[in-house]
Amino acid sequence: MCGIFAYTGTKDCREMLVNGLRMLEYRGYDSAGIMALSEESDIFLEKAVGRVSALASKVDEKKWDSIKYTTWIAHTRWATHGGVTVENTHPHISTNERFYVVHNGIIENYKELKKSLSEKYSFYSQTDTEVVAKLVESLYDGNLKSTMEKVVAKLVGAYSLAVVDSENPGEIVGIKLWSPLIVGKSNDWVYISSDINALSNLAESFSILEDNEMVVIENGDYSIFMSWKKVERDAEAVQEGQKIDELGDFTSYTEKEIFDIPAVLENVWSGRIDFKNKSIHNETLDALSDLDIERICIISSGSSYYAGEIWNYFFRKFSWIQASAIISSEFLSDVFIPDSKTLYIFLSQSGETADVRESMKIVKAKRCMTFWIVNVVGSTIARMADLGLYSHAWVEVGVASTKNVIAQIWVLLMMSISLWLKKDLQISDAREIISELSRLPDKISQALMQGPHIKKLAKKYSVYNDMFVLGRNYFYPVAGEASLKIKELSYIHSESYSAGELKHGPLALVSETFPTIVFNPMGKFYAKTISNIQEVSARKGPILGFISSNDTHKELYTDTIELPETSELLSVFTGLVSSYLFALYLAEALERDVDKPRNLAKSVTVE
Ligand code: M6R
Repeated sequence: MCGIFAYTGTKDCREMLVNGLRMLEYRGYDSAGIMALSEESDIFLEKAVGRVSALASKVDEKKWDSIKYTTWIAHTRWATHGGVTVENTHPHISTNERFYVVHNGIIENYKELKKSLSEKYSFYSQTDTEVVAKLVESLYDGNLKSTMEKVVAKLVGAYSLAVVDSENPGEIVGIKLWSPLIVGKSNDWVYISSDINALSNLAESFSILEDNEMVVIENGDYSIFMSWKKVERDAEAVQEGQKIDELGDFTSYTEKEIFDIPAVLENVWSGRIDFKNKSIHNETLDALSDLDIERICIISSGSSYYAGEIWNYFFRKFSWIQASAIISSEFLSDVFIPDSKTLYIFLSQSGETADVRESMKIVKAKRCMTFWIVNVVGSTIARMADLGLYSHAWVEVGVASTKNVIAQIWVLLMMSISLWLKKDLQISDAREIISELSRLPDKISQALMQGPHIKKLAKKYSVYNDMFVLGRNYFYPVAGEASLKIKELSYIHSESYSAGELKHGPLALVSETFPTIVFNPMGKFYAKTISNIQEVSARKGPILGFISSNDTHKELYTDTIELPETSELLSVFTGLVSSYLFALYLAEALERDVDKPRNLAKSVTVE
């Protein structure tokens, strides 16, 4: 939610700044802005509503003369306070036009602050960030660092801020609480960014700021401070897996990321699973099995929630441990009754989702057992507890989560199998599952080969305004995830139900123009779902089935997508992947912006 990118160095790198902003665009793409400062305090400021490309065109059109700008701050916005307008676009400016601020997060007490500042300053925007710019001016004591200490003492909420004093070129001050901020370096270029994506192809090393830490960039280097004390911390080297891949022949990152899934799976289990001996080797999982766990509760949002629910169905089938999955914002809305025998797992691709982060704070405060499963290395949630595993899905650029969902379910399965093996329970089942899972990348590759057929069907179904998505048991949360992907990517209204629930009300909507998508591979509940399909068919509703090739009722479906021959367990994965392709191609048929669906952001850092 909002991306910050800032830079100081000897080179005038507006192109690099705009590219960095592009890498952060998935955090928000309502509008973007840039401010540059020369050694002589010349100021360049440009803002544009819409994508970074709109800002880039404006920046390109500008006549750059011979002025050399060496201090830059830039921002891409996901609107929270105030509409999508140029006035609300960052950087925000103090009244004396001296201080420039970019911000990610929410200042919860901005109204009170604005009220008191209004006596002296007039405001041009509806944002909470403008309040920070005015505060900097009102509290300025001749030193930006000490001023920022005073500013943040007045703020309630979550923030990462980068601030420039236009009378002091070459210096940028950054500070954070609950929102991420990273500082990177290569030679004498120093960067600040909301996440590693903008830096990974530029910096050689980086440091992730802890809460309340301040980074001061000056003279081509940086220092980190906490309460005025300098923090000595070794910078980390940027790793290959943290770099964003080229698109290659794919038309979008979302498409590339779906096709990356077989390779991602191999990456997830590499060094963790020994398929030959059907065993799992992982220190973290060993540590987990030493804990006295009687229950597991997964807390997450969006696709990560569905990943948790899918796993939950598996887990309930095989385990003696009770498991549940809960939407993080609902966890926050309920009364928390701490349970010392429950392991609370926080599942998040970005590791920044505010609802998940806040839930984790509550659980940690009660000293309950916490565990995270996160994709983005070094993200906030991954730094809040010692015990956790990375989902190792590499950088996911598409706002719609695809490869990471599969990786998350995988890590959860690996965790359960490890627990089963260590507790000497269900050994044969667990070992059987391991050997079955080794076939998964091949099966997913087979599912992906159906791409052209799925594309044709997606074109046909793209004319509808509404769809139901149904499934039972494992395929109930799979239907939820597929429906989320259809909404998010194609903007077609779709709702998911347990197949058995349709007759309890939603069936009233079924008609010739209201299709139903159903997941019904061969398995325990096949026959029951067939009855539900008949109920739809009797009302002339078109039916698209994700089915097994040996389905004996193919005549009931209007159209079918056949899943590769596998066990029911593996068909959960192949079904998900096929539904991702279907949602992607629906979106393409409707000419949607697949990687950046409207109104959304990849990293949801507000509650
Ligand atoms: O980063 P997280 O996994 O915590 O994100 C949770 C949701 O915001 C996310 O899964 C969202 O629903 C996706 N855009 C769905 O594709």
